[in-house]
Amino acid sequence: MKTPRFLLPAATAGVLALTLSACGGGGGGGTTGGGGTDAEANLDSRGPITYVQGKDNSNVVRPLIEKWNAAHPDEKVTFKEQTDQADQQHDDLVQNFQAKNADYDVASVDVVWTAEFAAKGWLQPLKDKMAVETEGMLEPTVEAGSYKGTLYAAPVSSDGGILYYRKDLVPEAPKTWAEMMEMCSIAKANNIGCYSGQFKQYEGLTVNASEAINSAGGSVLDDEGKPNLNTPEAEEGLNNLVEAFKNGNIPAEAITYQEEESRRAFQEGKLLFLRNWPYVYNLATTEGSSQVKDVLGMAALPGADGPGASSLGGHSAAISVYSDHKATALDFVKFLIEEEQQKFFATQGSLAPVFGALYEDQELVAKLPYLPVLKTSIENAVPRPVTPFYPAVTQAIQENAYAALKGEKPAKDALSDMQKSIETAGAGS
Ligand code: GLC
Repeated sequence: MKTPRFLLPAATAGVLALTLSACGGGGGGGTTGGGGTDAEANLDSRGPITYVQGKDNSNVVRPLIEKWNAAHPDEKVTFKEQTDQADQQHDDLVQNFQAKNADYDVASVDVVWTAEFAAKGWLQPLKDKMAVETEGMLEPTVEAGSYKGTLYAAPVSSDGGILYYRKDLVPEAPKTWAEMMEMCSIAKANNIGCYSGQFKQYEGLTVNASEAINSAGGSVLDDEGKPNLNTPEAEEGLNNLVEAFKNGNIPAEAITYQEEESRRAFQEGKLLFLRNWPYVYNLATTEGSSQVKDVLGMAALPGADGPGASSLGGHSAAISVYSDHKATALDFVKFLIEEEQQKFFATQGSLAPVFGALYEDQELVAKLPYLPVLKTSIENAVPRPVTPFYPAVTQAIQENAYAALKGEKPAKDALSDMQKSIETAGAGS
């Protein structure tokens, strides 16, 4: 078992060590990231703002905005809802930041975009007058909102991978990948698919491929932040997925699945096991059409000899440097991260709170019995590489993992190509 990431010093947790010292790239660039006049403008200005976030799957954003608007008639928030697809959300934000769109005042930033957006100078540093309190928040969530020691995005919700399973068909969740694969005979006997995660070529594949590698004892980056993919453990991890596609334990159609497609397949009763995020609990237990309402089990992701390691997910709220009303934007960000809202996100949408204490809150645990499983998942979660050049890094992981899953490249070659592409990712981006 490797050192859990949350025990490592902040500077080493997933930060990709770039081999080239003179990387160009970010418009705001390196040390001046987030600096300059845009970040100094409109700090005291108040008025209507827009909050931009991916699809509100669990209907938690709209009620909160209504609550805010009722209390702030002159500083109303308009909700700009993006799609439910991580890559489209990213590209939409990039386009609007590049265009210096003043209407994207507050944006929900995936943990893997912080470094890129901060280095480009698009996010308001949350310090001095713009500081927000992060005490009591889980350390990895604060790290994920920070870049070079400065907070740029306030943690709103965390995310850790969960193994959902059918309690009516398997009495106890498998602890290892091998155990889970053995249980696939039960799926076969019941004429349903065995396992799925998210295997379309997009950010979710980076999440799933990294988890497969981490859970087999490998790692995408070593403790010094260097790519570390030419290892037997990484090969075993990726091969686990390759083999499962080959022998049908992962149904062929899962190669097209993002979060929502895989959730639907599971809810329709078509899968025995599903790897997904905590938001699924709420929908799978409340949606009228769900076939798994009363038989939903939740456990840690399976690993090589025991529990595996999730990729760290989650979202934070950032203020655009181009916002015209930053004082309002800051108050709205503070409102979003208050404990009361965190509880609402948890009970209403089964999102993962960022405050550690909420995982022990008796009232909450009584309502959401899976909270201890989720806390362990998040505490042991491994960050994806932290770098301003993340788009090139994730591309390298996705492209090669996808080729391996489709049987176009042996896992070993895919990993060695991944290694090379990550090594050069900082150079030309
Ligand atoms: C979830 C996670 C996010 C991840 C994405 C991938 O939204 O919170 O971190 O990048 O899924 O699809």
